[in-house]
Amino acid sequence: MSTRVRGGKYVVHGGAVLRGRVVISGAKNHALAAMCAALLTNEDVILENVPDISDVDSLSALLVSLGAEVGRLPNGALRLNCRNVSMFEAPTELISENRASFQVMGPLLARHGYAASAPPGGDVIGQRPIDVHLSGFEEMGASVTRDGERFVARAPHGLHGTRVFMDYPSVSGTQNVMMAATLAKGRTTIVNAATEPEVQELALLMNAMGARIHGLGSQMLEIDGVDALHGTTSRIMPDRIETGTFAIAAVMTGGDLVIEDAPAGVLDALLNKLRGAGASITEDGDRLRVWREGPIRSISFQALPYPGLATDLHAPMAALLTQATGVSIIHERVFDNRMLYVSELRKMGAEIVSTGSSAIVSGPTPLHGTRVRALDVRAGAAVLLAALVAQGTTIIDDVYHLDRGYERLTEKLHGLGVEVERN
Ligand code: EPU
Repeated sequence: MSTRVRGGKYVVHGGAVLRGRVVISGAKNHALAAMCAALLTNEDVILENVPDISDVDSLSALLVSLGAEVGRLPNGALRLNCRNVSMFEAPTELISENRASFQVMGPLLARHGYAASAPPGGDVIGQRPIDVHLSGFEEMGASVTRDGERFVARAPHGLHGTRVFMDYPSVSGTQNVMMAATLAKGRTTIVNAATEPEVQELALLMNAMGARIHGLGSQMLEIDGVDALHGTTSRIMPDRIETGTFAIAAVMTGGDLVIEDAPAGVLDALLNKLRGAGASITEDGDRLRVWREGPIRSISFQALPYPGLATDLHAPMAALLTQATGVSIIHERVFDNRMLYVSELRKMGAEIVSTGSSAIVSGPTPLHGTRVRALDVRAGAAVLLAALVAQGTTIIDDVYHLDRGYERLTEKLHGLGVEVERN
């Protein structure tokens, strides 16, 4: 597994028109949850198409610290075996690396009756509470206490099925409670469940492991607990946010991209907005062709839970709209601090004002290269997109944030005609 260091910078030479073919990698947020699900069984879970990104590295390190075996097979698939897991306390320094790490709690609690962890890390894009995870565990019979910074969940006699209402349809909260419920006694009903594709894919994976989850894709999940789960081999879905990022790059640069292995069926909101902004898009199974000939038009959007436009595409879309004619209005409805990209795009000449969770973008504005930072993974994607159309050279610091979610990014960009170096 590769090791990536904090910091790192990209030097991007502006003016590229992206052309060619790019193949989308496995989805970060499906892969991370699927890796946690391996804790639910003694048998091998083989995950194909797991991206080589630093969030996968840090979650692998966490699982290994619990006693799991995690490694790549010769064919590139990730093999996980949790037969020897004997530590039920997630080390804080590893938990703080990413958000998904807290999802070891549900499986550990369900299988071993005990789990402890500090709150998770991840991007600083809002308060990111975990109350729905914890109240779900409590409703299923666990006691949850606070020991210093750690949450300690205990269910010495096992979890039992019940009706769990999610105060907010949290993605990782739904995944955590759903994983715990697979081994609970009786039926758990999750009301107001998140419907994101990564939640559905996790349910499909666990059903392949012997779980009995019904209502996939709906806001009401019913899970009939079973005594044990078994191993399986499963393929991670392609990353819808990476797909979106490349699609936006094609539109922004006036390029023409064929995007292979794209999950077009879960990108309605994005494709609809891009067409509104002037993109031409054809869909052929898992292949998208995205190009633009005319000017970019201003559009307004809200970032919403699925099937609305993904909050993870908010910042990349804002970068695009700096090049649109007219005024675009953006409302962020998922996280309360998604605006980190605004200051960086302004340094490049963008006309954006933000207030609270809304932004107003006026365009088109010529952007110029300067020194900016990738402040989180998606804010990093936004400045990278801006750098593609900027005049001159942009230096992007802290690109380790991009390593968290984008596999082989510079290599893919080179293949599409972008001049970018990492140093
Ligand atoms: N929320 C609560 N209570 C909770 C949990 C969440 O009120 O107990 C609220 C949050 O405050 C936030 C909203 O729910 O306003 C959404 O949070 P959610 O829990 O759904 O997000 P998450 O599970 O922490 C995952 C992805 C994010 C993605 C969001 C929304 C993973 C590891 N992360 O986060 O991905 O933005 O869902 O789709 O699955 C990224 O990939 O860059 C990324 C941040």
